[in-house]
Amino acid sequence: MGMNSFDTTPLTDADVAVTGGAGFVGSHLVTMLAGLGRNVTIVDLACPAQELADLPGVRYRHADLRDYGETLLALQGAHTVFHIAGNASGTKSVEFPRFDFQINGLGTCNVGNACAELGVRRLVSLSSAIVYGTPQYFPIDEEHPTRPFLPYGASKFSGELTLRSMHDAIGLPAVIGRPFVIYGPREDPRSAGGEVSQFLRWQLNQLPIPVVGDIDRKTRDFVHVTDVCAALMVLAEAGEPGEVYNIGSGREVSMRALADAVAEATGRPARLEVDESQLEDSFRLVADISKLQAIGYRPGVDLAGGLRSLAAELGPFPELPTATVAFRRERVLES
Ligand SMILES: NC(=O)c1ccc[n+]([C@@H]2O[C@H](COP(=O)([O-])OP(=O)(O)OC[C@H]3O[C@@H](n4cnc5c(N)ncnc54)[C@H](O)[C@@H]3O)[C@@H](O)[C@H]2O)c1
Repeated sequence: MGMNSFDTTPLTDADVAVTGGAGFVGSHLVTMLAGLGRNVTIVDLACPAQELADLPGVRYRHADLRDYGETLLALQGAHTVFHIAGNASGTKSVEFPRFDFQINGLGTCNVGNACAELGVRRLVSLSSAIVYGTPQYFPIDEEHPTRPFLPYGASKFSGELTLRSMHDAIGLPAVIGRPFVIYGPREDPRSAGGEVSQFLRWQLNQLPIPVVGDIDRKTRDFVHVTDVCAALMVLAEAGEPGEVYNIGSGREVSMRALADAVAEATGRPARLEVDESQLEDSFRLVADISKLQAIGYRPGVDLAGGLRSLAAELGPFPELPTATVAFRRERVLES
């Protein structure tokens, strides 16, 4: 079966579908599920990498989740659905809010509706800690107010609300994960805004690391992609339908501490170029993960270990990050 042709073979009862399985987080989840011997269908607009598509038990169904008919067909036969597809770029949501909403809002609604219609046993949907907006207290638990300041946060939150309302109204067995800042191999340096990979890429090129914002006041909760995948599996097995769970490490790391850890992991001092002209996101951000821990999640990768393995994976002189950060813009453009 060619990579671009639509596979209509019926899935068996034990099958799992992963939307966004060709992307950064999704590809790790597909690899983990295939390693456990599950049959996995990647449902994505983009073709997965050949090594991923060639794994035993893995196949690809092309679908644009903005189209309900395509979504319904692609998810047919799945027993558990992991909904990972989406726009993950806040900057892109500022540039093209309508595009962002179409995939994160409408696309998520289509996935929920299809799962309800198909009677899937569990839908695990990946939202984002962006829905909280500017943190009001630390660590952030799931009861924290939700006041997104980016279209990205609003589109992710609307996806969440839609699935939760479908749970309440029609019994959709949807569980929602809110990851903090995910890092690990296979992040696209052209679009991914996470500081871990970005800092490491500058450092491995022996160049100064650009730091946006206040180096001490700006803190993040960095969670390794394999821990995110482990959390998603916990949610599929033990998550309460209709509930929301934070996914993080529970550890608060400042930009300075991250730079120090990057220096340590690479065995070379880090030079920093601090730009304090943009202070919008110079806030503390750390997850309270006790709700997820209570159902069996244990973060397994610490930052030092995650950085060492990522540095080895990237090798010397990896592609430099070109993702830009934008919180607002003056002109209104149409996507
Ligand atoms: N990367 C992070 O740090 C992070 C943090 C919090 C939340 N998230 C969430 O995790 C999810 C995955 O993020 P990622 O970093 O893996 O992003 P990614 O861009 O690497 O992967 C997203 C995948 O979704 C697919 N997709 C996009 N639009 C689609 C459509 N209309 N139909 C079908 N497939 C479509 C893309 O082709 C891609 O393969 C996103 O929903 C994002 O909001 C990511």
